[in-house]
Amino acid sequence: MRVAVLAGGRSSEHEISLASAEAVRAGLERAGHEVLDVRIARDGAWSVDGEALSVTPGAGLLDADVAFPVLHGPYGEDGTVQGMLEVLDVPYVGAGVLASAVCMDKLVFKQVMAQAGVPQVEHAGVSDARWRTEREAVLGELAALGLPVFVKPVALGSSVGIVKASAAEALGPALDQAFAHDARAIVEAMATGLEVECAVMGDGEPVASRPGEIRVRTEWYDYEAKYTPGGMELVVPAGVPEAVAERVRALAVRTFRLAGVSGLARVDFFVDGDEVLVNELNTMPGFTETSVFGKLFEASGVPYEELLDRLVGFARERHARERAYRH
Ligand SMILES: Nc1ncnc2c1ncn2[C@@H]1O[C@H](COP(=O)(O)OP(=O)(O)O)[C@@H](O)[C@H]1O
Ligand SMILES: [Mg+2]
Repeated sequence: MRVAVLAGGRSSEHEISLASAEAVRAGLERAGHEVLDVRIARDGAWSVDGEALSVTPGAGLLDADVAFPVLHGPYGEDGTVQGMLEVLDVPYVGAGVLASAVCMDKLVFKQVMAQAGVPQVEHAGVSDARWRTEREAVLGELAALGLPVFVKPVALGSSVGIVKASAAEALGPALDQAFAHDARAIVEAMATGLEVECAVMGDGEPVASRPGEIRVRTEWYDYEAKYTPGGMELVVPAGVPEAVAERVRALAVRTFRLAGVSGLARVDFFVDGDEVLVNELNTMPGFTETSVFGKLFEASGVPYEELLDRLVGFARERHARERAYRH
C-alpha cells in the first residue's frame, strides 16, 4: 500500500505528532508499505518534500491508498482533518468525523457515556460567558463536587491547561486559566486509586489489549510526567485483580462502540478497588513504539508492524463499506 502519513499539525502537540509519525513511518516501511510524508506546519500549511501541497476534492490524496493522520489534539484529532479526508475521498486510519469530534470534547463525550450508564467521575460544565457574568453562582454550584477538583479546558490533550484545585480559592484562577484555551471548561471531582489504560483496535469487532497501569512520580499525570524521560512508568499487566482487568477490557470495548470509534483508541480509566470509572477515550493516542498504545498491544501479542498493518486494513474496509451507502 501507498500510505500518506500526516504529521505535525496546528495543536500544541505538534512535536509529539512528529515523534509518533516518525515511528509510524518506519513501522509501515518495515511492514512493506510505501510511505508518503505529508507535513502539516504549525500554521496549518500542508507540504510534501518542502513543496506546498494542493489537493482537489474528490480526487484522493497523492495517489495514496490510505491516509494515516498521526495528529494529536485540535485540528487533527477532532474531526477537522478527518472531514478534509472525507472530502478528498481517501480511506484513512482511525475514527471518523463525528466520533473524533465527540471524543475530543470531554464534556460531550461524558454526556454520551452518561446516557448509556457508563461509570464516570461527578462533573460539571462551565461556559466562559456564564463565568464572566455569574461567578458566585458558578462557584456555589461547583462546591457540590467537593475538593480537590480537576479543572480542564474541554478540548485539549497532553494535560495542557489542566489545573488540580485543592482549595476553594484556587478554583477561580483555575477556571480563568482554562478559559485562556477554550470557551468551555469541565470541572471534575477527583477520582482516587490507579490510572489504568487499555488499547482497543478494530472495525466492527473491536479487540482490547491487556490493561496497563500508569505510575508517576508527580502528584498527577501532568505534562511533565508525560514527556520527561522517566516521568512515568507503564506497568503491564496493571496491578488489579484479574476480574477487574476483565471489566476494564469489557468497558473499553463498550466505550469504543458507544463513541462510534473505528480503527483504534486508547481508553483511560480510574480504578479504585472494585470501582472502575472511564476517564477519557483518545482516538489518536501517542503512537511511538514505546508509547502506551503500542506497548499494550505488544504485551498482548501484537507487534507494532502488525498493528500498523491491521490499521491500514481497517481503514480500507471502512471506506469500501461507507462508499456502498446511498446518499
Ligand atoms: N477527575 C480526576 N481525578 C483524578 N485525576 C484526574 C482527574 N482528571 C484528570 N486527572 C489527572 O489528570 C491527567 C490528565 O487528565 P485527562 O482528562 O486525561 O486529560 P488529557 O486529555 O490532557 O490527557 C489524568 O491522567 C490524571 O492524572
Ligand atoms: Mg489523558
